[in-house]
Amino acid sequence: MKLQDTGKTKEQLIDTYNTYFYETFKRFDFIADSAKDSYVFDENGREYLDFMAGIAVNSAGHCNKKVVEAIKDQCDLIIHASNYCYTVPQGMLAELICTSIGMEKIYFQNSGAEANEVMIKLARKYGKDNFGENRYKIVTAKNSFHGRTLATLAATGQPGTAIQKNYDPFIPGITYADFNDLASFEAACDEDTIAIMVEPVQGEGGVIPATKDFLVGLRKLCDEKNMLLLFDEVQTGWGRTGSLMSFMGYGVKPDCVSMAKAMGGGMPIGAMCTSAKLALTFGPGAHGSTYAGNPVCCAASYAQIKEIIDNKLPANAEAKGIYFRNMLKELPYIKEVRGRGLMIGVEFTKDIATDVKYNAADEGLLITAVRPNIIRLVPPLNVSTEECDKAYEILKSVISKL
Ligand SMILES: Cc1ncc(COP(=O)(O)O)c(C=O)c1O
Repeated sequence: MKLQDTGKTKEQLIDTYNTYFYETFKRFDFIADSAKDSYVFDENGREYLDFMAGIAVNSAGHCNKKVVEAIKDQCDLIIHASNYCYTVPQGMLAELICTSIGMEKIYFQNSGAEANEVMIKLARKYGKDNFGENRYKIVTAKNSFHGRTLATLAATGQPGTAIQKNYDPFIPGITYADFNDLASFEAACDEDTIAIMVEPVQGEGGVIPATKDFLVGLRKLCDEKNMLLLFDEVQTGWGRTGSLMSFMGYGVKPDCVSMAKAMGGGMPIGAMCTSAKLALTFGPGAHGSTYAGNPVCCAASYAQIKEIIDNKLPANAEAKGIYFRNMLKELPYIKEVRGRGLMIGVEFTKDIATDVKYNAADEGLLITAVRPNIIRLVPPLNVSTEECDKAYEILKSVISKL
């Protein structure tokens, strides 16, 4: 839909938002009218270099040709069928995902939060089915983010923040331990704990990579205590951190991994993958969703994942990530530049992240701020060196003026 076809001006459309819309996001001052590759274009055709990629979604570039074709072709065939039917895209996608990341079974969902929600449900049911009524506790990390449904909010280790405040009481049985601190996780687990759930790189928490020792330690702890290791790869998955899934780069295999964001190329889809043995936990009726695994979303996801694999985008993320992170260290007010691949956090010595974010948008660069002093850069994984240079120059100019 184009603005000129509505008969409204930009200001009138924004008024429509103000009249009818819940305002839970402070939006940029432009209309995202169209997009291609690493750029979003506003209602006047002005370009914005997109280093937030729809919040780590458009990893193969905006409106990737193959993804667009797959969506259009599938719409001509069947848009929705229900999960009582076999559909071609769902089956093909299941096989592609499981074989490319070394997992055995997949369960489709519609978003990251839903993928984590079902991962939590699976862990609880597995615990109770196999070890008794009390074996349902889960330990997650402080500072984590796992989604906004009530169970995933309970798993999100950010008590007292706007994300969680006054949505309590949460589901019982979830406690938090210190990220990258194995002893803290050991201490938090008791005989009723069935699972540990972490992000390999904490995203919303400030782009904090797990250390390899920490993840190896968690794997060992889970094996020793008959617990499940759950990785939330909603943000880190599908090439973002330099390997197809982040766990593959770390060399630590979880019992269950969740995914969403980049896997759909912009279409709403999520999933969790497990072993065949763990999948036996869910029989008919144990869980369900009307839309999950919708044919159009699966066709888009199949095309997106093929693009990521065929064009070796994880390797590009790794190479460009090293190049870009080194460059970012030269910005003013830098405390630390960190991350893996093209999941980058820039921590400043001052609380300037929100100003940097909105001023950068004014100068034609889109980024997110994840903490008052931390910005996050998650460009498309096929970003070029020139685009990284351009983003750096805009950031330098914005920060120098603060
Ligand atoms: C690690 C992680 N888990 C879960 C979610 C929630 O995903 P969604 O917004 O698709 O529900 C996010 C979203 O930012 C995320 O970064």
